[in-house]
Amino acid sequence: MQKDQIISIVAANMKDFHQKDCSGHDWFHIERVHHLAKEISQTETNADSFIVELAALLHDRYDKKLVASVESERQFVKNYLADFSIDEPTINAILQAIDSVSFSKGQNNPQALSLEAKIVQDADRLDAIGAIGIARTFAFAGSFHEPIYLGEKRSNHLDKDVPATAIGHFYDKLLRLKDFMHTKKAKEIAQSRQDFMETFLKEFYQEWNR
Ligand code: ADP
Ligand code: NI
Repeated sequence: MQKDQIISIVAANMKDFHQKDCSGHDWFHIERVHHLAKEISQTETNADSFIVELAALLHDRYDKKLVASVESERQFVKNYLADFSIDEPTINAILQAIDSVSFSKGQNNPQALSLEAKIVQDADRLDAIGAIGIARTFAFAGSFHEPIYLGEKRSNHLDKDVPATAIGHFYDKLLRLKDFMHTKKAKEIAQSRQDFMETFLKEFYQEWNR
C-alpha cells in the first residue's frame, strides 16, 4: 500500500476513535496536530515525514487519560501498523515518537528524542497554547471537574497545596511551553500564541477584579 493511502486510512480510523471526546482530545485536535507536524516536518530537511504523520495521527491513541490499559492499546497500535506491512524499525520509530510525546508532560532530555518525536511534540504543544490552547484548557478543566479559577495567587501554582484550576494550568504549563519548543518553525508560531495568552490573562484579571 502507498504511504499516503496508509495515512488516509489511519486518519479516518482516528476520526472515529476521537469523535466523541469532550476533554480537548477530540478529532480536530488530532487533525491540527497532524497538519502542524506536517508543516514543521517540511522545514526540517532530515525528518521522515511518514513517521511524523503517523505518530501525529496516533499520538493520543493510547494516552493514559483516554484508555483503560496503555500497554494493551499500545500493543494494539503496534499490530495495527504491522497489518499495513510497515517494517518493524519504522513501527518502532513511530511508537517511540508517540511514547515521548505522552511522556512530554514533564521535563525530558531533548537529546534522547528523535527528530520526528521532537516535531510531533512541538505540534502537540502548539495546540496547547494560543486561542485553541485556551479553549482546550477550559474544556479539559470542565471535563475533569476542575474549577475555572478560585482567585488564588499566581505564584502559588506550583505549590501542591493549591487546588488545580484552569487558570492555574497557564502557570503550571502553558506559559512555559514556548521555551521548550525544539524546532525553529514551532518557536516562531509559539511566540504570537504566547502574546495572545498574556493578553487573555490580563483581560481575565481585569474583569475578575472589577
Ligand atoms: P495533549 O497530549 O493533547 O496535550 P493533555 O492531556 O496533556 O493532552 O492535555 C489536553 C489539553 O488540556 C491541553 O490543552 C492541556 O493544556 C490541557 N490540560 C492538561 N491538564 C490540564 C489541567 N490540569 N487543567 C486544565 N487544562 C489541562
Ligand atoms: Ni495531543
